[in-house]
Amino acid sequence: MLLHIKNLKINYKSDNRPVEVVRGIDLDIDKGECVGLIGESGCGKTTAGLGITKLIPERKGNISAGEILFEGRDVLKLTSEELRCIRGKKISYVFQEPFSSLNPVFTIYEQMRESLEEKDNPDSRIAEILKSVGLEKIIDRKNIYPHELSGGMQQRAMIGMAIAPRPNLLVLDEPTTALDVTVQRQILDLIMELKNKMSLAILFISHDLRIVFNIADKVAIMYAGKIIECGPKEKIVSSPAHPYTIGLIDSIPSLKHRKKLFNAIGGRAPLFSELPEGCKFYPRCRFRIDKCSEKEPELKDVSGGQASRCIRTISAELRSATPIKWNY
Ligand SMILES: Nc1ncnc2c1ncn2[C@@H]1O[C@H](COP(=O)(O)OP(=O)(O)OP(=O)(O)O)[C@@H](O)[C@H]1O
Ligand code: SF4
Ligand SMILES: [Mg+2]
Repeated sequence: MLLHIKNLKINYKSDNRPVEVVRGIDLDIDKGECVGLIGESGCGKTTAGLGITKLIPERKGNISAGEILFEGRDVLKLTSEELRCIRGKKISYVFQEPFSSLNPVFTIYEQMRESLEEKDNPDSRIAEILKSVGLEKIIDRKNIYPHELSGGMQQRAMIGMAIAPRPNLLVLDEPTTALDVTVQRQILDLIMELKNKMSLAILFISHDLRIVFNIADKVAIMYAGKIIECGPKEKIVSSPAHPYTIGLIDSIPSLKHRKKLFNAIGGRAPLFSELPEGCKFYPRCRFRIDKCSEKEPELKDVSGGQASRCIRTISAELRSATPIKWNY
């Protein structure tokens, strides 16, 4: 196991009070495996990803519990010096706002040189990286600045910088969200190619189920700071167990060839400061029963590596007998 996260909890300070937004996450990533982390905006995906290398600024929040074993060592127990050897090197990031991550006053060449492990004779390594991310056109243009590149090329450059130190784990946070559909496809193909060539493990964070189903081997679905379902992609696509996942899949008509069922999940995710008792999905769940509001369900094995945080078994019969509700 390359990365093993157990019961990770992260707080932010809000009005000087801690608000827990990652509320006990377990996640495993194997060498060369791509794990997709999905969820609605604000459910805690980015925070969980940043937490892996303790990137939560102290003045903003803290990791209050958990264990993050990377290559067998607990990241949370490392010294700052040891952490520096891992962060941005063995575990590399493409952050959610890629365009703010590229520094407009330095050339792509200068920024790429900065991200290299070995500083001697960088030209051949930079050329190799630019080639591997499909930017061979700019190999001989050392004076090119980020604003001279298209959005897709900027994202390729960001990915190039992230893989430059030859990481074992790459965290990609919404890497294609700001791009148009054709460029999205190209970037996804590039990510797959790099994963296979470099045996890279990837944590792919996205709110877009279709993209994650395209690229991931394993999928984890997050809701209100916890993983509510996880498992091999094929299992989740063919037999989702949690009502939230069922709703997400039902809102993609092309996947299931169903009638129009857009917005199959009504209502909004709860605020972290006002989480409901019991199951956090209760107010929006079309399968809810009174018992669901008593206690937050545990993540329980369903079958073949799939697990769900729901007290009910949502059979095909129950699904067809329970209409989608529109008025919440
Ligand atoms: N610096 C911060 N201080 C206080 N609260 C924060 C801070 N950053 C994020 N939050 C809150 O933490 C929660 C989780 O945010 P996070 O950015 O991790 O969600 P996300 O799932 O990545 O959302 P998105 O899909 O919009 O990127 C949100 O409710 C957000 O408002
Ligand atoms: S526990 Fe109940 S409310 Fe929660 S997802 Fe399952 S059926 Fe819905
Ligand atoms: Mg985010």
